[in-house]
Amino acid sequence: MMRTTLFRTLAAVVALGAAPLLEAAPIPPPLMHAPVNVADTASLQRGARDFMNYCMGCHELKYERWSRLGRDLKLGPRALRRLMFLQTKPYQMITNAMPKAEAIKFFGEAPPDLSVVASEKGADWIYTYLQSFYLDPSRPTGVNNLVFYNVAMPDPFWHMQGLRRAVFRRTGAHGTGARRFVRYVTVVPGSMPPAAFHRRVGNITNFLVYVANPDRLKAMALGIRVLVFLVLFTLFAYLLKREVWKDVHH
Ligand code: HEC
Repeated sequence: MMRTTLFRTLAAVVALGAAPLLEAAPIPPPLMHAPVNVADTASLQRGARDFMNYCMGCHELKYERWSRLGRDLKLGPRALRRLMFLQTKPYQMITNAMPKAEAIKFFGEAPPDLSVVASEKGADWIYTYLQSFYLDPSRPTGVNNLVFYNVAMPDPFWHMQGLRRAVFRRTGAHGTGARRFVRYVTVVPGSMPPAAFHRRVGNITNFLVYVANPDRLKAMALGIRVLVFLVLFTLFAYLLKREVWKDVHH
């Protein structure tokens, strides 16, 4: 009798202690809508600049060449040089110097190449992910992420967006179910007004959408030419028809 009580108490203590470690991913809010428009060259240019500043230290775009980026984004040689930090030649791929083994040691995960991430995860996911970090002292980086639970990536924008705590509410009877995200509480305000911050993340997302499918720009230009051709062709066909049938009617 004594033994079972003791055992039960011990089991309860162990279960309680392990609870934070075994906590399941919370139910995230719905994804935000990313303002994607790859025809907006100014947005792509800003997105490229910010990507090089805040992401390139860890992530690569190894399926895109600098020269292609320069051409597609209408950057002159000097503007392209500024983006490249003088580190490579324009015909080279967009890579960084981070050794994979070191990265795994630092973060526990190697930062993945982001060339096609926009096709894999979708623009809305990236846009929401970059704005969904919250304070979590149990994580090595001090932060967690609502759409990528227990992510190894630190929050690249904490100083712009500010530091936030997330409030969760337990679902189910007696509050035993999953945790549902309710709202953020700002702990340290960010340095950027929220609208400007959303725009910045939007530009980076737009840039990653372009990188995932650089031929889309060409396809769009071709599509417009095809449409113009079709309109002109229809007009000529109509005029020709009128010309031919004129004599038949009279
Ligand atoms: C300090 C290094 C570091 C910086 C800076 C960084 N990341 Fe990351 N990122 C990581 C790591 C590490 C992972 C892998 C996370 C994991 O698997 O848990 C990751 C994962 C991601 C993912 C998820 C990819 C996937 O396929 O799951 C995206 C998207 C991403 N990062 C975008 C960005 C963007 C955009 C920036 C710049 C605003 C950025 N990252 C800055 C280290 C970094």
